[in-house]
Amino acid sequence: MTSKRTVLSTMALAVALTAGMTATLASTASAGTTLKASAAEKGRYFGAAVATGKLSDSQYVGILNREFNSVVAENEMKWDATEPQQGRFSYTGGDRLVSHARANGMTVRGHTLLWHAQQPGWAQGLSGSALRNAAINHVTQVATHFRGQIHSWDVVNEAFADGGGGGRRDSNLQRTGNDWIEAAFRAARSADPGAKLCYNDYNTDGVNAKSTGVYNMVRDFKARGVPIDCVGFQSHLGTSLPGDYQANLQRFADLGVDVQITELDVMTGSNQANIYASVTRACLAIARCNGITVWGVRDSDSWRGTDDALLFDRSGNKKAAYNAVLDALNAGSNPPTTPPPGTPDTTAWYLLVNRNSGKALDVYNLATNDGARITQWARNNGNQQQWQFVDSGGGYYRLKSRLSGKVLDVYNFSTTNGGSIVQWSDGNGTNQQFRLADSDGGYVRLINRNSNKVVEVQGASTADGGNIVQYDDWNGSNQQWQLIRIG
Ligand code: G3I
Repeated sequence: MTSKRTVLSTMALAVALTAGMTATLASTASAGTTLKASAAEKGRYFGAAVATGKLSDSQYVGILNREFNSVVAENEMKWDATEPQQGRFSYTGGDRLVSHARANGMTVRGHTLLWHAQQPGWAQGLSGSALRNAAINHVTQVATHFRGQIHSWDVVNEAFADGGGGGRRDSNLQRTGNDWIEAAFRAARSADPGAKLCYNDYNTDGVNAKSTGVYNMVRDFKARGVPIDCVGFQSHLGTSLPGDYQANLQRFADLGVDVQITELDVMTGSNQANIYASVTRACLAIARCNGITVWGVRDSDSWRGTDDALLFDRSGNKKAAYNAVLDALNAGSNPPTTPPPGTPDTTAWYLLVNRNSGKALDVYNLATNDGARITQWARNNGNQQQWQFVDSGGGYYRLKSRLSGKVLDVYNFSTTNGGSIVQWSDGNGTNQQFRLADSDGGYVRLINRNSNKVVEVQGASTADGGNIVQYDDWNGSNQQWQLIRIG
């Protein structure tokens, strides 16, 4: 049976490309009318830092919910807020933000587990192993509390010094030993294996001594297997942007980590809109740039006082900078992510085998009706496990069952995590369209056009009958599928 397997190969891609099937990789114009819609079309998020106290301000919430699909707590997930007394944890603000995000289809960035600033007084008074133990316990407790809710954690914030040395910043944490950062990343990975783990800093926007210090740390972590997935570039900007901004982010991406723009704000003035647009274009040009977060909603919400550094004015109106960002998003290529290892042959039948479980995508109990469950099952090559890619254009495909003739469908156009994947009559709905995103080793994720979430085996089940749902894309092995051509 295995001799009949034909895995999509580089050769298949080459054949497909020569045959002119380049549509999936080509740039496609589109025109979202909000930041989140336009960013989602490009496979990115667009986020804002939120002060939960403002969630009762209707103008603020109106803009937040209309424009953004990612949030980060401006202060409420920091150490002083979450562990005001040693061993006593307080999650009121963080939980409030997470529930607002869930109710409104937003992902959450976690900020920040360890930082030299905004430490509670009791931690400021500790040193040595007492501080190290307290810090690691803090990481474990907070990451465990929010487990499964966080897209990306800023595990460590601002640990490098400004200036020309490129070394670590002196702090109480640094004085516990140079390995405090990797200890924090390892603890965070154990506590929440689903979250991307980021290092986050400022004044690292161009190639300079500080960003090179961070670069060398990330390279070392990757070489030694320290779990790091992403680097955050705060991008608190003045009246100019370093000319090598994109090149700097790209050199980090080339190390095999994602990059994210995490706290963007730009000094008001004649250059503001241009700088916002340039930052947006840089992110879109880097396949591993996941998204952009601005550090607040309206100018009046910003920590920068009179700099008027954000996208909405003090009355909540869109500024020129807003239009510049939206135009840049709309002009970007679509989809911009790393091309999949192969373009599916739309005349073939494939098994989709999950990387984590080794089981195949399966129409449960040979059902042929609308709404029937899709599960995973031990591979048997039956018609209920065979799928054909039907081209929807723009790099998107439906997946048609050989058994039922129905297609994979995100039930009822759900946009929430855990939304069911079923089969349904082919209506070419956006909830029935998926694009392929590359994971390493010849595996792909299937990203839904409507929700921008990926097809996964729920809870990383390895059992027959394990449920298939959609979830935020974190490139988990339960979200990765091998396409095996069998017919
Ligand atoms: O809420 C209290 C208030 O009750 C009290 O009366 C008042 C007295 O000063 O303080 C208020 O808390 C302030 C808090 O913001 C909420 O407004 C803190 O003093 C103030 O220090 C805190 O500032 C935050 C700052 O981080 C702390 O360093 C800013 O809001 C926040 O925007 C800023 O965010 C940082 C990122 O975390 C890391 N990167 C840089 C960025 C900008 O500085």
